[in-house]
Amino acid sequence: MVGRLEGKNAIITGAAGGIGLETTILMLHEGASVLMTDISDAGLNKALSKVNSVVPASTRTGKVEIKVVDVSNESQIEAAVAHLDAWGGLDIIFNNAGIMHPKDGDSEECPEDIWDRTMNINVKGVWYGSKHAVRAFRRHGKKRASVINTASMVALVGAATPQLAYTASKGAVLAMTRELAIVHAREGFRFNSLCPAPLNTPLLQDWLGDDKEKRFRREVHFPTGRFGEPVEQAHAVIFLASDESSFVNATDFVVDGGLTKAYVTPEGPATEAPRNLAA
Ligand SMILES: NC(=O)c1ccc[n+]([C@@H]2O[C@H](COP(=O)([O-])OP(=O)(O)OC[C@H]3O[C@@H](n4cnc5c(N)ncnc54)[C@H](O)[C@@H]3O)[C@@H](O)[C@H]2O)c1
Repeated sequence: MVGRLEGKNAIITGAAGGIGLETTILMLHEGASVLMTDISDAGLNKALSKVNSVVPASTRTGKVEIKVVDVSNESQIEAAVAHLDAWGGLDIIFNNAGIMHPKDGDSEECPEDIWDRTMNINVKGVWYGSKHAVRAFRRHGKKRASVINTASMVALVGAATPQLAYTASKGAVLAMTRELAIVHAREGFRFNSLCPAPLNTPLLQDWLGDDKEKRFRREVHFPTGRFGEPVEQAHAVIFLASDESSFVNATDFVVDGGLTKAYVTPEGPATEAPRNLAA
């Protein structure tokens, strides 16, 4: 059977772990070629070994490579996009890299340097990725291309456990993505935001640690009683990346187990979580 992304060339930022790594594996399963990028060289090399063991070269039609990219550095993003010129040009970019800094907090607590750093990675990184993707799509005469930008559920609902810079940055991702989607709609370039709920990835789980109270404060809001898994986000990304979603544009694509639609949540045991592909 032909993969849902057969022959497409993709870049994923923040691909060394979490959502980015799960998405890499699924994209390869679906026939895409993937350039995994991340700020962490060691993380990328470890992730690539994992990818090669889960999707061995003999089972895939696309290629996979790694490249160190700091998304807050425009020339590095530009070079990553240009790297795919030799592959036939970019078709998909998943602007997924993001940080949630432990020193972030409410308006009094968040230091200015943390505010700037968060904006540089979470907002400017998405802008640079989108900008150079559009240039590449045009350069290669692409008529069907997809940009997926990772925002967050916290851009849609307020939280009494504030991380103001992070929340503001993700709100900016939603607004920017929506506008880009409309600007480029007649070129066939689609832009959608992914809005994950709190997940079982290092970004959040390292921060929560063993603090049961902090953990429960969040878990109680999940209708399913559990955090989301990165593979559950990755499946949504595959849909948004593929031509199956050709009429899905400018959405805040929420993958949250119903969290943002819940008033009072059910009691009882949590639902079973799917196994992540890189687990
Ligand atoms: N984990 C959650 O609860 C959650 C919820 C909503 C949204 N998100 C968003 O999902 C995205 C992916 O996060 P994740 O949960 O998979 O976390 P993660 O920490 O596993 O992955 C983030 C990756 O981004 C990389 N990165 C950090 N700064 C970078 C930079 N300047 N340039 C390039 N790469 C950089 C990290 O090295 C890491 O590999 C982020 O944008 C995050 O804000 C996460």
